[in-house]
Amino acid sequence: MASTKAHFGPSLDYISNHRSQNPSSRTILVTGATAGIGLAIANHLLSSPAHHLVILTGRKADVLDDLRSRNPDRVLCKPGDMSDLDYVGSILRDVELDGRLDGLVLNHGTLGACLRIADMEVEDWERTFRINVSSCVALVQSALPLLRTAQGRIVFTSSGAASNAYSSWGAYGASKAAINHLAMTLKNEEPQVTSISIRPGVVDTAMQVDIREKYLKNMDEKDQAKFISAKKDGKLLPPEKPGHVIAELAVRADKDLSGMFLSWDDAKLAQYQS
Ligand SMILES: NC(=O)c1ccc[n+]([C@@H]2O[C@H](COP(=O)([O-])OP(=O)(O)OC[C@H]3O[C@@H](n4cnc5c(N)ncnc54)[C@H](OP(=O)(O)O)[C@@H]3O)[C@@H](O)[C@H]2O)c1
Repeated sequence: MASTKAHFGPSLDYISNHRSQNPSSRTILVTGATAGIGLAIANHLLSSPAHHLVILTGRKADVLDDLRSRNPDRVLCKPGDMSDLDYVGSILRDVELDGRLDGLVLNHGTLGACLRIADMEVEDWERTFRINVSSCVALVQSALPLLRTAQGRIVFTSSGAASNAYSSWGAYGASKAAINHLAMTLKNEEPQVTSISIRPGVVDTAMQVDIREKYLKNMDEKDQAKFISAKKDGKLLPPEKPGHVIAELAVRADKDLSGMFLSWDDAKLAQYQS
């Protein structure tokens, strides 16, 4: 029976022809690819001379459709909400990859309600953890069989908040610490797969706009000052800087990096920084 799954190119045999013509091409899934750092990761992979194949997720289907229309044979889109774990489980089930997935970039993330611990509903903590952590566990589980075969890579977009406690960021910071731990555990449990967690710095994306426009009021003054001055002093990073490093790690991260939590500009990552 013919497959009903979405596939790259106009027919099911496209993928094997593409691979034989482009031996450096890798198949990589990027979450949160509709904006900011994730969009920069997707664009970097798509502009590579290696002609990578990418599966892209995010809730904004129109942005994903636009990426696909510009690269019709090399992009598969699976729009949806990462708080819906049934959807997360369907992402890899509904695409035809011809048995190959080389990289998984878990980049999507939410700050959540961004309230102080005394004020935040436990349900809001759970929702933040579902989006930032449980969805990653679910997607890692479904990707592992393919990643083991490919000796592939998992890259998590983490945060400095994983190891710095900013007021009102408790749920977010704890969720990022959890994914760092996930990368460490995967290093030990899955020796065929390289797992790494990246701190992207303070990046000029919608998330920083939300921090300045919606969430500053819940933060202590010293924490507010950090984010106000980053914008005022022109210190925000363009998303392409950490995005390019994360994309390169998804393609070719060295096994020695497995389990680490590193800043995008760490000297250990010099060969991935352009
Ligand atoms: N910007 C920074 O300074 C900074 C610093 C440290 C870490 N980070 C981390 O970097 C990653 C990317 O953030 P960004 O700065 O690029 O922010 P952004 O521009 O707001 O992008 C966030 C991405 O995550 C997706 N996303 C959020 N909630 C989702 C949900 N419930 N379901 C599906 N997708 C969801 C968004 O897609 P849709 O809206 O289409 O769903 C979007 O593609 C996040 O993990 C964030 O925690 C950012």
